[in-house]
Amino acid sequence: MAERGGGGKARAADPARRAAWEVLKTVRVDDAYANLVLPAVIEHFRLDQRDAAFTTELASGTLRWRGLYDAILATCVDRALSRVEARVLDALRLGVHQLLAMRVPTHAAISATVDLVRDIGNEGAAGFTNAVLRKVSARDRDEWVAEVAGPAGTRKHLEVALSHPAWVVEELARGLGPTRVDELADLLQADNDPPAVTLVARPGRAEPAELPGTPTRYSPYGVVLDGGRPSAVAAVAEGRAGVQDEGSQLVALALARAGLDGPDRTWFDMCAGPGGKSALLAALAAERGAVLLAGERAPHRAGLVRKALAGASGVAGVVVADGARPPLRPGSVDRVLVDAPCTGLGALRRRPEARWRRRYDDMMNLVLLQRSLLSSALDLVRPGGVVAYATCSPVYAETSQVVGSLLGGRQDFVLDDATQLLPEVPDAEGTLAGTVQLWPHRHGTDAMFVAVLRRWD
Ligand SMILES: C[S@@+](CC[C@H](N)C(=O)[O-])C[C@H]1O[C@@H](n2cnc3c(N)ncnc32)[C@H](O)[C@@H]1O
Repeated sequence: MAERGGGGKARAADPARRAAWEVLKTVRVDDAYANLVLPAVIEHFRLDQRDAAFTTELASGTLRWRGLYDAILATCVDRALSRVEARVLDALRLGVHQLLAMRVPTHAAISATVDLVRDIGNEGAAGFTNAVLRKVSARDRDEWVAEVAGPAGTRKHLEVALSHPAWVVEELARGLGPTRVDELADLLQADNDPPAVTLVARPGRAEPAELPGTPTRYSPYGVVLDGGRPSAVAAVAEGRAGVQDEGSQLVALALARAGLDGPDRTWFDMCAGPGGKSALLAALAAERGAVLLAGERAPHRAGLVRKALAGASGVAGVVVADGARPPLRPGSVDRVLVDAPCTGLGALRRRPEARWRRRYDDMMNLVLLQRSLLSSALDLVRPGGVVAYATCSPVYAETSQVVGSLLGGRQDFVLDDATQLLPEVPDAEGTLAGTVQLWPHRHGTDAMFVAVLRRWD
């Protein structure tokens, strides 16, 4: 492993820390997703397994805890943080994470960050970095939280201490609803705990027992991976299994389990990219002689769906199509999934940067799109057929409100009780009766929402 810290001047930065800084820079400059950038950066710096783990924790943890770290840095810097050069601020944040959340000795965390600042070309900020991090190192994490987060028990305290933007905390509180709002701190904490990797054994193609790990709590197809890379598992490499959060498995299951009157032949996944749910749905469809058509608006994501479905039975095809204008006759489909584009505020555990990137206004634009996609799906399904509307968000405006407003204008649809379709999952009722809302702190899954709407006429 590369040497970390120690005395001396003007050394090149430790590659593991430089790699973590590159991840932060790419997320900041290119709007990249940290989990997608990390493997490429680790490869580029030729990090061994131990250094790769260090870089992953350093980059992901820093992105997750940025809100708290910026509140701390603001008290240690003599000017507004917005006036600190962005690349130096990223290095400072990495330094704070090492000081307050990793077992890196103080002198090593500070001197390695000073080396990093020099290495990225800002020799002039070396003294500043050293002085700021010395101030940070004067207290431990709990002391800093007490200093910068205000009185415990307030919303403001939760925002800062658990590092979430105010509007996100507000929306998550509303999503929990008045009877559950006391779970807010547990939810925010769960967002900060990196999840274990969960695999799905696609039925008819792989058995959960083939996968190395522990069976998931609720999904009959899921296994929590013991460790190691998923791609090293033969069934994953062969496409018979895949990486998929248990919540997503349960959404597919709810759609497949809904009872139908009449034929059960044609399934449509309207927003299929990158194809995780399509692959599970196709396997479930094949078991009963039905076929799945997958639609996706973005051509490159449709390509990912094709890859996810390679070698699968039960596939009618993959089409690049706007779900608002699907290439299917109205009233012709037995089951439709609308896994709608959403804020993703239910998947913050696995997307450390997402909470800082999303804006309240994004949400309002997404709600309009969600309504239009669900409305189109309701037109596609035949009388007696079902539509599952899902999001990886627990935000009220994107979930219960979208479903409630569409149902209000469509006398030909009723809501099935989705909690009855997933009886193995306790305490999962959404704020709209009959919908299912999963939670990371309660179920150990992403905060997936699903409602099942049945056309009776
Ligand atoms: C939440 S993701 C779907 C995840 C996917 N079901 C899975 O399990 O892998 C939403 C997808 O909808 C796609 N999308 C956005 N607008 C769309 C539209 N108007 N019609 C169809 N797909 C759309 C996005 O490109 C994105 O791939």
